[in-house]
Amino acid sequence: MAKKIVALILSPRELGNCEILVKEICRNVPFAHELQLIRLTDKEIKPCKACYACLVNGKCPLDDDFKAVAETMASADALLIATPTYFMGGNGMLKVFLDRCLQLYPASFSLRGKPVINLVTAGLKGEAGYSEMMLNSFSLILGLKLRASEVFYGALPGEIFLDNDEQFQRAAALGEVLLGEKERSFDEWACPMCGSDVIQLLGQDRIQCVVCRNYGNISQNGKKVELKVELNPENIFFTKEQFQRHGLWLQEMKARFMRLRRKLAALTGVYADQGSWL
Ligand SMILES: Cc1cc2nc3c(=O)[nH]c(=O)nc-3n(C[C@H](O)[C@H](O)[C@H](O)COP(=O)(O)O)c2cc1C
Repeated sequence: MAKKIVALILSPRELGNCEILVKEICRNVPFAHELQLIRLTDKEIKPCKACYACLVNGKCPLDDDFKAVAETMASADALLIATPTYFMGGNGMLKVFLDRCLQLYPASFSLRGKPVINLVTAGLKGEAGYSEMMLNSFSLILGLKLRASEVFYGALPGEIFLDNDEQFQRAAALGEVLLGEKERSFDEWACPMCGSDVIQLLGQDRIQCVVCRNYGNISQNGKKVELKVELNPENIFFTKEQFQRHGLWLQEMKARFMRLRRKLAALTGVYADQGSWL
């Protein structure tokens, strides 16, 4: 039976680099599939109001396209997520969408375990900033199984493949890994837990991986940089158990709020009349 690939495109440009990249990858997928494209920037996704109603009664009061998009993603056998770089980060719609994913905690469906390839396009080499990290955090938080994460350079629509055989071949190769058996292999300098190459220095030899938020140590062995990273039991998204434990913590928030609400109202009320709002 044909597999279903769902591609989340974060570029508003029709036939822009994100779109042709996703389509080229799918041309090289070695199995029968249907490709469902979602241009997130064409959808109405309202920002999360932090009302937590979804955690209490399972329903988000915002009426828009979120649910249709999330359900389509959940119906996929594999996902492709492609964002252009906008001022060093991915398209802001990705973050707006992610925040609304709070409602997936009590939802009857989940995106957990779905294979995904994360793709970034950027106009200038070296100027992709934190876009890749943003996509990788997105997939880690939702429990997606990261197969590959790559950046492609080109400013004009289509330019990523214009006289650029290296990028064209790289896209073609990604078609093979989307639903293959092989686990993602990490660069030797990357976080051994999640593969991210963005590491926060905490002083002396201590580090924290910015994407998976596990802690470790950095050392130098000759010319080689070595990272040792251990599972942080306090994490809230890295393992399925941590994700579920965080879900329970969120569910208990209502009881905590009911217990503390008078005290909290007394504390915040002091600030109520200060300043004027635009
Ligand atoms: C508002 C805006 C900000 C951008 N900022 C960056 C940037 O910080 N770094 C970069 O390399 N390219 C930047 N670009 C260029 C795009 O990332 C690049 O053109 C990319 O290929 C667009 O992908 P698309 O064709 O799928 O829309 C920016 C483009 C726009 C419209």
